[in-house]
Amino acid sequence: MTRYFVGLTGASGHAYAEALVRALVRAGCEVDLCVTPAGAKVLRHELGIESGAEGRELARALPGWFGAECARSLRAFAADAIEAPPSSGTALSGGVIVCPCSMGTLARVRAGFSSNLVERAADVALKEGRRLLLVPRETPLSEIHLENLLALARMGAVVLPAMPGFYHRPKTLEDLVAHVTGKILDRLGVEHAGVRWQGTGEPPPERGTA
Ligand SMILES: Cc1cc2nc3c(=O)[nH]c(=O)nc-3n(C[C@H](O)[C@H](O)[C@H](O)COP(=O)(O)O)c2cc1C
Repeated sequence: MTRYFVGLTGASGHAYAEALVRALVRAGCEVDLCVTPAGAKVLRHELGIESGAEGRELARALPGWFGAECARSLRAFAADAIEAPPSSGTALSGGVIVCPCSMGTLARVRAGFSSNLVERAADVALKEGRRLLLVPRETPLSEIHLENLLALARMGAVVLPAMPGFYHRPKTLEDLVAHVTGKILDRLGVEHAGVRWQGTGEPPPERGTA
């Protein structure tokens, strides 16, 4: 069974993380979760979670928020739990996904700070040559942000911005979220039921006229 690490940071877009975690579990994967302190504030605000839990209390409560069925495949760690398995390269992982990824975490991962478990898990993925997928969210992007994104892409990270398309004609927020999570799952090679582009429906040009 493949185990992924999903780090949730203080960027907007926690609906992407929730949908991603549910899709990974549906596909039979196990997921390690870690929310930074800023991530916890944004998560509570965006997903309308009333609890004020922080740190280890939050880590204990987090799997339960996904419901009993999903929770069985989840482990959650506090951001300061640098003793947790994802801190070490010896703990195998199918990949580290930082979703959503704040510009602060992006900068610290680029610089190798490893000041919490999310940054350390990303650092481990880079040093071990394992999959690191960043889902940054910010707009507009400064030169610092762009430089950090380019540097990490050059180090082998996949930069997959939280940037949904509209060509599948989304009707709901869930449709928009599913477009981004489908792209993440495709990069991980995980099966999902998301929509796939089938063309415009117009007949293909005749041979020799295109
Ligand atoms: C409601 C809210 C939304 C935010 N959205 C973003 C965002 O989209 N992108 C970003 O880089 N920072 C955003 N921030 C700021 C980060 O949370 C802040 O820089 C924080 O220090 C990041 O910490 P972390 O990287 O340890 O999670 C937001 C903050 C709040 C309160």
